[in-house]
Amino acid sequence: MVGKSSTRCDLIMFGALGDLAQRKLFPALYQLERAGLLEPNSRVLALARSDDSTAAIRAQLAESIQSYVKAEDIDEGVLARFLDRVDYLCFDFESEQGYGLLNEWRARGGGELIVYMATPPSLYGVIARNLRDQGCCNADTRIVVEKPIGHDLSSSKVINNQLAEVFNENQLFRIDHYLGKETVQNLIALRFANNLFATQWNQNHISHVEITVAESVGIEGRWGYFDKAGQMRDMIQNHLLQLLCLIAMDPPADLSANSIRDEKVKVLKALRPITSDMIDTHLVRGQYTAGTSNGLPVPGYLQEEGAAKGSSTETFVALKAEIHNWRWAGVPFYIRTGKRLPEKLSQIIIHFKPAPHYIFDPDQKHLANNKLIIRLQPDEGMELQILTKDQGLDKGMRLRQGPLELTFSEAFSTSRIPDAYERLLWEAMKGNQYLFVRRDEVEYAWHWVDQVMSHWQDPAAHPKRYAAGTWGPVASIAMITRDGRSWYEDA
Ligand code: BG6
Repeated sequence: MVGKSSTRCDLIMFGALGDLAQRKLFPALYQLERAGLLEPNSRVLALARSDDSTAAIRAQLAESIQSYVKAEDIDEGVLARFLDRVDYLCFDFESEQGYGLLNEWRARGGGELIVYMATPPSLYGVIARNLRDQGCCNADTRIVVEKPIGHDLSSSKVINNQLAEVFNENQLFRIDHYLGKETVQNLIALRFANNLFATQWNQNHISHVEITVAESVGIEGRWGYFDKAGQMRDMIQNHLLQLLCLIAMDPPADLSANSIRDEKVKVLKALRPITSDMIDTHLVRGQYTAGTSNGLPVPGYLQEEGAAKGSSTETFVALKAEIHNWRWAGVPFYIRTGKRLPEKLSQIIIHFKPAPHYIFDPDQKHLANNKLIIRLQPDEGMELQILTKDQGLDKGMRLRQGPLELTFSEAFSTSRIPDAYERLLWEAMKGNQYLFVRRDEVEYAWHWVDQVMSHWQDPAAHPKRYAAGTWGPVASIAMITRDGRSWYEDA
């Protein structure tokens, strides 16, 4: 991160004792403090329903920060300085009362107001109205909200309308935390700062693209939430479609929020619907059964704590997306994501087409396409697979495939890779919306996802099984092999 946060902010956090705030938001704020990016007079107001004193809450935050931030990054002086900025208020967000207390707290400060709603989305509307009716906000207030924005297009419109009744679009910062990941932002630099790639980035030179976001964890005690969502709503509607947009969009005119978002929306609009005649070739949904994770036995989805019998919620999705425009005509995007896969891994593979005329050993022809591997996590970096001559007198012109590699943690060893929430909170403090999602992006994404999910209405149609610790149902392998290709790890 370069530069100082110049503005003085009052950050009000609704849901400050929830899991997200404790695991991600306060540790991220601490890191901003450590990096010297919080303006000296900026303040944080934690809000929750638990009747505690500010001192007790500060102690609880200290504990969370110490457990979620690496021990070597903990500096007691910085921690104390950060906690000093934090005040706590308890009240019921749905009743108008408590909001007067916000005004009293604000009157003692005076920075730009940022409201972070780390609450269930069902509360966004009532909080927004109470903020307006009790005079707690104005046209400069920034509102940060988390996904999920609804569970389909129509419910997302309800939430967006509730927010729009009070705030303008330029006040709304909708988080998709994948946009805060360093390597995800690097996609923009890679594509638009390197003419080498810019000229190759289309159907003339790219045969297909793979996007994998795999997790080894199950649903981590969140059965209630997850079972209503499933992997399609939880991951594809937001994170994976955002990755797809950044890979597929046309060059924006500049780095402004609207230039980037306009280009992403064009991609979402060009996504071809998956119609019923395409289900067998373009769509696989799966659900994990008992298996192993990191060598240990783990239960299946239906045996997880709190599970309801017979749920047909998917924990895995693989699909073949097609973008109907000049740049991408005929280039499939194979996308997959799942829980309880063999490892935590997010990567994008760009498969380039082979050279038009091949002159080397016919046995090696299968090697002859370059691949660009973009590793988002873990081990962030990029690798360009190129072909060179094998060394040695006896090797003739045998080809060898090898990487031109850039591992960020090695190449830039002095800089820590910041967590996505550090970047997002900092950008919100600076009022920069380019890493946040605009309303039309959310809605076009739902429009496409709703259409795909319409094929799963039949309660008798159960997802395909896969054992925990494997790469999903065999049907997802068949989906890509049918096209004469394979997932990268199987190649
Ligand atoms: C969240 C999903 O948005 O992203 C979770 O709700 C998922 O189910 C998480 O585990 C994955 O995020 P990351 O940053 O760990 O890849």
